[in-house]
Amino acid sequence: MPYIPIKQLTKKIGEEVNVRGWLHHVRRQGGLIFLVIRDPSGYIQAVIKPAIGKSVFSVAEKLTRETAVLTKGFIREDKRAPYNGIELQVTAIEPVIRNASPELELEIRPDSGTQVYLDKRHLVLRGENASDIIRFRDYVTRSFREFFYNRDFVEVTPSTIVQTQVEGGSTLFKFKYFDHEAFLTQSSQLYLETVLPSLGNVFCVLPSFRAEKSRTRRHLTEYTHIEAEMPWFGFEDLLDFMEDMIISVYSKAKESDILKRFNPSLEIPSKPFKRVTYEKAIGLLREYRIKGESGEYLEYRDEITEGPERALVDKIGCPTFLTHFPRGMKPFYMKINSENPEVMNAADLLIPNVGEIIGGSQREDELDILLQGMKDEGLDPKPYYWYIDQRKYGSVPHSGFGLGLERQIQGLLNLNHIREACLYPRLINRATP
Ligand code: 4AD
Repeated sequence: MPYIPIKQLTKKIGEEVNVRGWLHHVRRQGGLIFLVIRDPSGYIQAVIKPAIGKSVFSVAEKLTRETAVLTKGFIREDKRAPYNGIELQVTAIEPVIRNASPELELEIRPDSGTQVYLDKRHLVLRGENASDIIRFRDYVTRSFREFFYNRDFVEVTPSTIVQTQVEGGSTLFKFKYFDHEAFLTQSSQLYLETVLPSLGNVFCVLPSFRAEKSRTRRHLTEYTHIEAEMPWFGFEDLLDFMEDMIISVYSKAKESDILKRFNPSLEIPSKPFKRVTYEKAIGLLREYRIKGESGEYLEYRDEITEGPERALVDKIGCPTFLTHFPRGMKPFYMKINSENPEVMNAADLLIPNVGEIIGGSQREDELDILLQGMKDEGLDPKPYYWYIDQRKYGSVPHSGFGLGLERQIQGLLNLNHIREACLYPRLINRATP
């Protein structure tokens, strides 16, 4: 008899079935043994009665949590059962391999601190919440890919070992690459731009790395970056595209049972999203009495850091584009606004509970202005020769963006900390497990 995935057992009421999985819970009560068996498709309560016979019962008595088991039994309807109103009445059970130690119970307890939870992440991932978040992350990643594929984008995979920076030197991870210096990439954007003339619209889903010294609830040192680049795209086209993408991903997410459990009140935003220029945002912060980290109100040209940024979007209460940052506040590759050369055609998308999840811009397409921007940032153009060639040969207006997948998951599920959205988070002082 084949093993039946737990998810399908609701259709097997009254039948004898084989089930295999891991013991999620083990409990003894009133002379009975209650187990919760988990497989990748779901959970079922199993009950073992003494009437089953001494030999089977005594095997069951020695089972501990997380043992992998092979079982046989009958599926009965029982409204009191915690999963789907059905129960497995066990007639045979055996461990695949007995647990080497009974100490799993002691590894993580509800009162274990954050560091223990992070050290034991490999075991925490067997829990319902942690595994549901990872499953949801997969679902959301697919919905991004689907959105791009529906628009004929090509997925590319540039190397993450690079010799150029994108987002400033202060967060670069440097290492020795044989006889040369290299970096872990901060963004694949510049590489995406190189294939616009041949592949057209492109995207990637790749790790980016930031040597972030800050300990916040939305910073990782390695994160999954969903980046896209589109030729013949002006700034308005870009905002419009990002709105469609977010609406599509939120609509899909809203169908997920996991989202319904974590964040039932999530609202799907509608077009057009609220837009606030950087200049206006500085005024709004004052109006809402939101101060910077130093305790002072922010002035024009101050960076809107995590705290005030989040407070601002929480106050606004819906996804909001923060646009038109002052020239020089953002990287060299962003396009200077043709009507107001003091600002750049850049837009960050902020969402409640997280703040910035997307950084996007129209790209500077003129060679001279690009080179000047690099000079202003103190960048040696030599290692960027391949990027600069894009402006020498067939440059066209184009735009693109990068979205932090973990921040998107954090926002959708209303998670307190970004580390919950990662399989194995990389944080300041943590690269284990
Ligand atoms: O705003 P950023 O730095 O933009 C870029 O890297 C562009 N080159 C992307 C592009 O246009 N292709 O980063 C983009 C997004 C942020 O909005 C944020 O969601 C995420 O990447 N991000 C981080 N996520 C987690 N931890 C960090 N340390 C992050 N730094 C950026």
